[in-house]
Amino acid sequence: MKGRGDSHEARSKYIIRFLTEYDLQDVIKLQEIVLHDLKDPEIYYPASQEKLKKYLREKTFALGVLTGGGLIGFSCINIPGDEPDNLGRDLAMSKEDLKEVAHIKFSFVHPDYRGNSFQLKLIKYTLDVINSIGCCHVLCTVSPKNYYSLRNMFQSGFLIKEITKKYGGLIRCILFKNICISAHPTWQDVMIIKSSDIEAHKKLLNEGFLGFNVSKDQNGIMIHYARSQTGDK
Ligand SMILES: CC(C)(COP(=O)(O)OP(=O)(O)OC[C@H]1O[C@@H](n2cnc3c(N)ncnc32)[C@H](O)[C@@H]1OP(=O)(O)O)[C@@H](O)C(=O)NCCC(=O)NCCS
Repeated sequence: MKGRGDSHEARSKYIIRFLTEYDLQDVIKLQEIVLHDLKDPEIYYPASQEKLKKYLREKTFALGVLTGGGLIGFSCINIPGDEPDNLGRDLAMSKEDLKEVAHIKFSFVHPDYRGNSFQLKLIKYTLDVINSIGCCHVLCTVSPKNYYSLRNMFQSGFLIKEITKKYGGLIRCILFKNICISAHPTWQDVMIIKSSDIEAHKKLLNEGFLGFNVSKDQNGIMIHYARSQTGDK
């Protein structure tokens, strides 16, 4: 495993477990390290201490990656139900579907431990937990500038379904995955756009395209949109 500070043996071992209130200070500390390291503060909107406390009290909803050196990765599950911030509302979901929405929020990995696929591992674990709770519709927001997070979400089967402003004016893609069906869409009419071209995202989404992949070239981050032949919407 890649990482600094720990002995090789300590580094090669990690566990993923639910976190509790007792882990609060470690989560706050880790989030501070992640924020300090961010090249662009727009990429990650931090959780307030109040929010973190709330999630850690509802113990099934906060997950941590721990190595010998302590907490190095974090992710939260939130079931928004009737709350106004249910991202299903941005996708015009029905009242029934809104009840089955789960959000993945506040995912981060210690900068020294990046490149071990911990975000992917956390997503997989998180989806298993969400499945066991009985929710089908999993949603999250990712900045169009966040190449690494977009790549991991697409790799986990999420699709961009909307782009809008969140968190007091930050541009966010809304990504969606229905974990109750196994979808293997065949993509047609592929269009590759600059991730920074927000109007192009909106136009394609309005025309029934979905964002399904990300790449990088001399123009920067590129998002791959297409229409699903199986008619996924
Ligand atoms: C997004 C994030 C959790 C991914 O971390 P991760 O799971 O360790 O990433 P991966 O294992 O997929 O990394 C794959 C490669 O990208 C690199 N990478 C990952 N995140 C990176 C970052 N923020 N900056 C530069 N390189 C990064 C890794 O070093 C690795 O490179 P390698 O293949 O040369 O070894 C992490 O970048 C992070 O915590 N970012 C800040 C908070 C954030 O944006 N959270 C998501 C909000 S939606």
